[in-house]
Amino acid sequence: MSASVQDMTERVAKLIEIEEVRFRETRRRSDAAWNEAKEFMPKGVPSSFQDAPPQPVFIQRGQCSRVWDIDGNEYVDFHNGFGVMVVGHAHPLIVEAVSERVRMGTHFAQPVEDVVIVARELAARFKQPQWRFNNSGTEATMDTIHLARGFTGRDRIVKMEATYHGHHDALMVSVEPKPDAMGPASNPASVPYYGGVPKALSDLTSVAAFNDAPQLERLFARYPGEIAAVIVEPVMMNLGIVMPDDGYLAKVRDIAHRNGALLIFDEVKTGCTIAPGGATERFGVVPDLIALAKAIGGGIPCGAIGGRADVMGMIDEDRVAQFGTFNGNPLTMAASRATLTKILTPAAYAHFDALGEALGGGLREVIAEHDLPFHVITIGARGGVTYRKEQVRNYRDYLTIDKSFPYVSWLYQCNRGVLMAPFAEENWTLSVQHSEEDVQRYVDNFAELARDLRR
Ligand SMILES: Cc1ncc(COP(=O)(O)O)c(C=O)c1O
Repeated sequence: MSASVQDMTERVAKLIEIEEVRFRETRRRSDAAWNEAKEFMPKGVPSSFQDAPPQPVFIQRGQCSRVWDIDGNEYVDFHNGFGVMVVGHAHPLIVEAVSERVRMGTHFAQPVEDVVIVARELAARFKQPQWRFNNSGTEATMDTIHLARGFTGRDRIVKMEATYHGHHDALMVSVEPKPDAMGPASNPASVPYYGGVPKALSDLTSVAAFNDAPQLERLFARYPGEIAAVIVEPVMMNLGIVMPDDGYLAKVRDIAHRNGALLIFDEVKTGCTIAPGGATERFGVVPDLIALAKAIGGGIPCGAIGGRADVMGMIDEDRVAQFGTFNGNPLTMAASRATLTKILTPAAYAHFDALGEALGGGLREVIAEHDLPFHVITIGARGGVTYRKEQVRNYRDYLTIDKSFPYVSWLYQCNRGVLMAPFAEENWTLSVQHSEEDVQRYVDNFAELARDLRR
């Protein structure tokens, strides 16, 4: 191959122009709906994460591995609602469980028997004895922070640079810090993520680079006796996919424990998708507290926290509050029970591995054939293309990626019947209802892009 990366960068701008025109021409109803929505809500979407260029795609329905937008375009869905729908759309067992529950009443704010079944299943998968439910990943990580602070009597939290843990004050820090504010790589700054997060609060959250255990050690040395917990997303899934170095997670646990702090795993994305017991199982490191959400609810809003008996005992003793009108909602629990006990079986994980291998293998062949400076990572139901040759180990590595490559790739997929999560850093989520034919469509689209990039 003779074309250089520079040639490709010029080519990519042209391809984006062509694909954006094609995108708009085939999504006129989405455009009209979006403009109408803007009259009533900021950015014309219910969550700012749903507003991505060129414009939001309004969805009408989903079935199995497919979704249809309101213009009638059909897609194989690899977005899967930001990693929630590993069960696929309208799975018969979810439809049955939820329909049965709807007919018996959907909300009491009193426990139902399913809470026991779901908690027992989570306890077995994630090796944590005690559980509570809430309604989102945000609530889950927020509750773990309250528990860690209450248990240790300390206020400071350490998070990794560029992880997103939801939209509460303690962790809305250095999620996507701008290069002029992020500080040196050896000592990242604590930068509030958007306005509305008081600096007094963001100052209580220290930031370390992922995959850098010595830097974490230095933070503990700088704040002796002050740090309540280190919260880690064990595989970072919002910068593409960033794997932990061998032994890194165990080192983080040991450093935290040696300093009297807790280790929290944010398994909102990894939980139940990269293994039955998430990263905890996959990497053999059991944290003190864990936050779950997304895939455990089968498509109904959900969240859960699990933890050590003594830490969760803070709730028993009324020393830390954990509340919520909708916690353990019957509809969520019914969907969660079906998801965990009937759908996400060992066969489901074998299916994810087989499809991941087919998809990853197909993409790697295309990358090799066209000598593209990209690589592919697959892990259980998750995976993605990283648009640089070398592994990304942290945020600073990620910043070197030219985001026009993932964007043009997103457009190619979207215009050829594959829906991916918006934004450059997102990756794919497979479902139990995806087929080999589905993943082949992804590979074929990627091959067309590769040919056009190298033409
Ligand atoms: C790792 C991680 N933690 C927490 C959250 C927040 O979850 P939610 O959007 O359900 O509040 C997200 C959302 O994408 C996430 O990716």
